[in-house]
Amino acid sequence: MILTEKHPIAVTCARGIGPFLAGELSSLPFPVLRAGETAVETEGNLEDAMRLNLHLRTAHRVLLGLCAFRAEGPEELYRFVSAFPWEDLLSENGYFSVTSTVRTPAIRDPRFASLRIKDGIADRFYRTRGIRPDSGPDRRRTVFHLQWTGEDAAISLDTSGEPLSRRGYRKLPWKAPMQESLAAATILASRWDRKSPFVNPMCGSGTLAVEAALLALGRPPGLTRENFGFMHVRGYSPRRWRELRAEAKAGGRLPPGCRILATDRDPDAVAAARENARAAGVEQAIEFNVCPFEETEIPAGGGVIFMNPEYGERMGEASLLRDVYGKIGDFLKKRGRGRLGYVFTGNPDLAKSVGLRTARRIPFFNGPIECRLLEYELYEGSRKAGNSEPASR
Ligand SMILES: C[S@@+](CC[C@H](N)C(=O)[O-])C[C@H]1O[C@@H](n2cnc3c(N)ncnc32)[C@H](O)[C@@H]1O
Repeated sequence: MILTEKHPIAVTCARGIGPFLAGELSSLPFPVLRAGETAVETEGNLEDAMRLNLHLRTAHRVLLGLCAFRAEGPEELYRFVSAFPWEDLLSENGYFSVTSTVRTPAIRDPRFASLRIKDGIADRFYRTRGIRPDSGPDRRRTVFHLQWTGEDAAISLDTSGEPLSRRGYRKLPWKAPMQESLAAATILASRWDRKSPFVNPMCGSGTLAVEAALLALGRPPGLTRENFGFMHVRGYSPRRWRELRAEAKAGGRLPPGCRILATDRDPDAVAAARENARAAGVEQAIEFNVCPFEETEIPAGGGVIFMNPEYGERMGEASLLRDVYGKIGDFLKKRGRGRLGYVFTGNPDLAKSVGLRTARRIPFFNGPIECRLLEYELYEGSRKAGNSEPASR
């Protein structure tokens, strides 16, 4: 098994993010061989997978295809796996974990498929080396992933290990934070040009502001993470990883005219956002302030106002939030003139209380919750009936 050769690569993502992920891959540039809702297919070697792990903002995992075969049932699966040269990929003193996505009548529980693969790998090692590596559920070392649909089985190396949305910069927990990759996807879905102001009232733990700063600085999100699955396979070169990181390091300054502001009425939220921004290496690029959203400074120069208010997942909360959404509409209308306004919410009913005409409603999923990124073109006096004066951006 030679990881310097070209392999199929499947990059997975949360539902709905596929088109943004495909856009990212194209601009790196990597070929987009197939783009679905939750995965995009490309190709490359281990070093390409390292680059993808470093640069992709909206991806979940980068899966490097190792082998594909037909398996009618678990015994065929075991037979194939126990004949495969795993010792080329993994040291006998190593540790591996197996995950499975299974859609076949041959078995009901994907855990059984994972177990048969573990047995096959361990037995192969025992036969060829007289010793077997450890295995278990820990995804911080070598991870193999089985995709088994009907009679088609494929095993890949999960070069990410833990999902890429865990960038490693979120040091302080906060209520209802957005997943980092989802925050990045919503910003990529917006019409923010990365050169004009990005204002993020109600910033919470600062995920949107941090992702905006990473984008405007051209800083790859993988720079802050210390561990990836690819670091635990034979053929991984720490020197090459250092070089890729050094090549990717961008300057520390925002483009002239670009300001990123993050505010929240809760001082603890702002402290968490500042700490997270520091961990992400972008603290200098963001201006923080404690204030109610209505008092957030709106700099000159157009740009966007991007908000993620609570959306009342618990009973009874939604009615209290109706008033907040109405005030968000007033704020955007009065203070956001000539800009684009964005509200990310998982409650379409509450969104109606914003009371502004939406230019676009872009669907996303936050776990199982269907969400929308609502875009408002904040023309002069645009409440409901709207008016025709275009926003000057
Ligand atoms: C859903 S959280 C934002 C989460 C954020 N996107 C993140 O990733 O951490 C909503 C935030 O709005 C803040 N908030 C609620 N009402 C506010 C108000 N009237 N003015 C300013 N901030 C407010 C809360 O303190 C909370 O931090």
